[in-house]
Amino acid sequence: MKTAVFSTRRYDQTLLSRANRDGAHELLFLQDGLDAGTAALAAGCEAVCVFVNDDVSAEVLVQLARQGTRLVLTRSTGYNHIDVAAAGRVGITVMRVADYSPYSVAEFAVGLLLAVNRKIARASVRTREGNFELDGLMGVDLHGKTVGVIGTGKIGTIFARIMAGFGCRLLGYDTHPNPQFEQLGARYVGTDELLASSDVVSLHCPLTEQTRHIVNARTLAMVKPGCILVNTSRGGLVDTEAAIGALKSARLRGLAIDVYEQEASLFFQDLSSTIITDDVIQRLVSFPNVIVTGHQAFFTEEAIGQIMDTTVRNLTDFSQGLLPVDRVVTA
Ligand code: NAI
Repeated sequence: MKTAVFSTRRYDQTLLSRANRDGAHELLFLQDGLDAGTAALAAGCEAVCVFVNDDVSAEVLVQLARQGTRLVLTRSTGYNHIDVAAAGRVGITVMRVADYSPYSVAEFAVGLLLAVNRKIARASVRTREGNFELDGLMGVDLHGKTVGVIGTGKIGTIFARIMAGFGCRLLGYDTHPNPQFEQLGARYVGTDELLASSDVVSLHCPLTEQTRHIVNARTLAMVKPGCILVNTSRGGLVDTEAAIGALKSARLRGLAIDVYEQEASLFFQDLSSTIITDDVIQRLVSFPNVIVTGHQAFFTEEAIGQIMDTTVRNLTDFSQGLLPVDRVVTA
C-alpha cells in the first residue's frame, strides 16, 4: 500500500524499510509531523503512518479521507493523539502496535528513578569538569521504601517486579486489577492511600479523559512529603505547573519524566541552537532534582524492531482485508 510515513527520523526510515522486506508497500518517508498544514503531503496515499506527537484530530482526518486515505497506523501502543471516533465517521480504520517489549519502558522508568534519586546525571556532569565533591548528591535507599504504581498493566507490573527485587513494598491503583501484580505481594488501594503512603509514585496508565492531570495541585497536596514522582507514560497525566509548585515547596523530593504535556513542539528535535520559548520546560530543567528525557523509554533495539515489524504487518493485514481486534482501535 502507498503509505505516507510522518515524523520519521533516520532510524525510522532504516528500520521500517528493513521490516518492509520484500518491498510490498510503497513507503513515502516524511520528516514533517502530521497536522492540518502537512496533511496534503499524504495526497494519494491509502495509508498514513504517524507517531505519538502527530496531530490526528477530526479536522486532519476529514482532510485525509478527502484525499483517499483509508488507514491510519500509529507506531505506538498509545493512541490518545488520534480522534478515533472521528476516524470512524470518515471511514478511516485506525491500527496500532498492540504491544512491544514492555521491558523497554519499565527498565527505563527504574533508570530514571535511580538517576533522580542518586543524582547520577548531575554527578557525571561534575566529574567531567574535574569536580569530585559529593555535596548535593545524597539520595535515599530504595530498599524498604513503598512504591505506588498507577496503572498495573504490562509495563506497570514489570516495573513493580523490578522494584520488588530492590526490596520495596508495593501499592497499586488500577481500574482493572491485575492478578500478576498481586502475585508480587502488592496490594491494591485507592489513589488517596497510594499517594499518602508512597515514597515513589510511578505512572503507567494511559492518557484518557479520566486520567488527564491525575497528578494535580489537589493530589500533590496528598502525596507523602519527600515523594519522588516518575512519569514515563504520557505528559498529560501531570499538571506540570502544579508539579513545579510541589518541587518549590519540597513536597516532591524529585521528579523524573520522559514525557511532557507540551512535548509536541520540543521532543524528537535538536533545538540546542535555538531559543526555547517554553518557559515551563526551562523551569523544570533548572531544578537540580528533576530529570527530563525526550520520550525515549521505548527506544531499545528489541522494542523498535517489534514496532516496525508490527506496523508492516498492520499494512499487510489491512490490504488483505484482515482486521485483528487487538491492533484495530475503535471508539
Ligand atoms: P496496558 O494497557 O498493559 O496497561 C495500562 C493499565 O492502565 C491497564 O491495567 C489499565 O486498566 C490501567 N488504567 C486504565 N485507565 C486507568 C485509570 N483511569 N486509572 C488507573 N489505571 C488505569 O498498557 P502498557 O503497555 O502497560 O502501557 C502503559 C502506558 O505507557 C501507555 O498507555 C503509554 O501511555 C505509555 N508508554 C510510554 C512509552 C514511552 O516511550 N515513554 C512507550 C510505551 C507506552
